[in-house]
Amino acid sequence: MTDTTAANTYSGLDFNAPLSDARARRLADRVAAAGPGTVADLGCGWGELLLRALESCPAATGTGVDTDDRLLQRARAAAERRGLADRAEFTAGPADAVRGPFDAVLCVGADHALGGTAPALRALSGVVAPGGTVVFGTAVWERTPTAGELAAMWPGATADELPATADVVDAALDAGFRPAWIESANGDEWDAFESGYLSDWERRAAACADPAEAAALRARADTARGWWLRGFRGVMGFCYLTLTAPAG
Ligand SMILES: C[S@@+](CC[C@H](N)C(=O)[O-])C[C@H]1O[C@@H](n2cnc3c(N)ncnc32)[C@H](O)[C@@H]1O
Repeated sequence: MTDTTAANTYSGLDFNAPLSDARARRLADRVAAAGPGTVADLGCGWGELLLRALESCPAATGTGVDTDDRLLQRARAAAERRGLADRAEFTAGPADAVRGPFDAVLCVGADHALGGTAPALRALSGVVAPGGTVVFGTAVWERTPTAGELAAMWPGATADELPATADVVDAALDAGFRPAWIESANGDEWDAFESGYLSDWERRAAACADPAEAAALRARADTARGWWLRGFRGVMGFCYLTLTAPAG
């Protein structure tokens, strides 16, 4: 995946995941269908999916938690702009310190913050209220990468570092959930996600007064584009599970 650790303004992205507006709306509507009063987003980033969920659930309050306060500032500003500031709270801190229960919990692209896929699903089962809803999104292999594809990805990429969607569903079942909906990011969502990162770097390089810094940014973009186009494009997927917690 594109190097998300590089300093990045993310201005070219609506979500820090391969997620279209249309799919985000469907996810938010599925959360809203159960009429939650409280929604949490663990590893919320700039909180766009939480804000969409609150727009779909006019009676709900939301709590977004992330360790990156710069992203939370963008979340708070967006909440203010959209008239959601009185219902959305964004708190800096680790996801594993969050205590529920919440009627709905979102965790998209942030399962590493809870120890990886299976530990995260177990942790989420302790944060969501009985009968509540979890939206869980995580990277998967769509198929086993070839040795050539792995060699073109980030250094040290291995075939066993990501699960398949079926493995994620098994881990959700093991954690006590029932799957309500299973879906995957499509090629257009991946292209928009990766291009969003890369175009941000290109814009920053173009605006950079220091030629050496601009060259470094372009070099990073070239490396990341190679990982994507020669390595994981069409091989790495991203599944979104809408899960129902046991009634208790
Ligand atoms: C790939 S981004 C996903 C953000 C958001 N869920 C979205 O879909 O736009 C992962 C997020 O997890 C956050 N994160 C990393 N470690 C964390 C931790 N221990 N606790 C909370 N958030 C964490 C990062 O700052 C980042 O915003």
